[in-house]
Amino acid sequence: MLMIQDIAQLRALIRQWRSAGERVAFVPTMGNLHQGHLQLVDTAKQRADRVIVSIFVNPMQFGPHEDLDKYPRTLEQDCKGLTEHGADAVFTPTPAIIYPRGLDVQTYVEVPLLGDYHCGASRAGHFRGVSTIVTKLFNLVQPDIACFGQKDYQQLAIIRQMVTDLSMPIEIIGVPTTRAEDGLALSSRNGYLTAEQRVTAPVLYRTLQWMKQQLNQGCPDLRALEQQAKDTLNAAGFNADYVNISNRQTLVPATDATAPLVILAAAYLGTTRLIDNIEV
Ligand code: PAF
Repeated sequence: MLMIQDIAQLRALIRQWRSAGERVAFVPTMGNLHQGHLQLVDTAKQRADRVIVSIFVNPMQFGPHEDLDKYPRTLEQDCKGLTEHGADAVFTPTPAIIYPRGLDVQTYVEVPLLGDYHCGASRAGHFRGVSTIVTKLFNLVQPDIACFGQKDYQQLAIIRQMVTDLSMPIEIIGVPTTRAEDGLALSSRNGYLTAEQRVTAPVLYRTLQWMKQQLNQGCPDLRALEQQAKDTLNAAGFNADYVNISNRQTLVPATDATAPLVILAAAYLGTTRLIDNIEV
């Protein structure tokens, strides 16, 4: 597997693949790769001739009091997994390569509306950071397809909208969430959990499954159900940030229980913020 930090080298590689008529798949990540990321790589491999992965802990998508500094950086281990899963190249730029003029003067990309609720409401500027880095990486890699996990449901919706709005010729593939046996969605942030918190963590997904069951049985009061779910999480030891039953297309809080729905949730266990979702 090729390791690339430099933009000129990256562009030369992509040109070489393109001139050989090869289809390129891209998997953007922030590293500390787990089975969920490797599932993205496997999906990319099935759909393209070449797979390139980026590892970049993007400062622009972290708030001032978030975990940018302690976000796990495990490059050696990551490269081992990527090699085993047949990635062709990994792009590992530094912040200075990506944001040479600094974050304050960086041109940004912002997708309206879809970021108004959920993580967009709790993490100001987060989706601007995501849309901007993904645009930059797309411009550098110019892939035919790009794979993202459905665990980050709102992020995936925003990226799909951005690609449509900006006429980017890239097919976006959403890959189902990879879960531990007890149902916990795999996440790089799970590594922050203490042994005790790790036992509690699956309650988040179990609560979403219970809500789905209630909705399928015709529960009419969506706001009351959200509140019950938050109470359950808080009683289990979480500090619930949001539990929102939303319209699957617009991601706006749903009023009509018969429309296609998604339940989006975020909750803290100690200082660790976990997110998850379930379609209904
Ligand atoms: O989902 C992530 O890991 C990040 O938000 C992404 C898409 C790699 C952008 O930094």
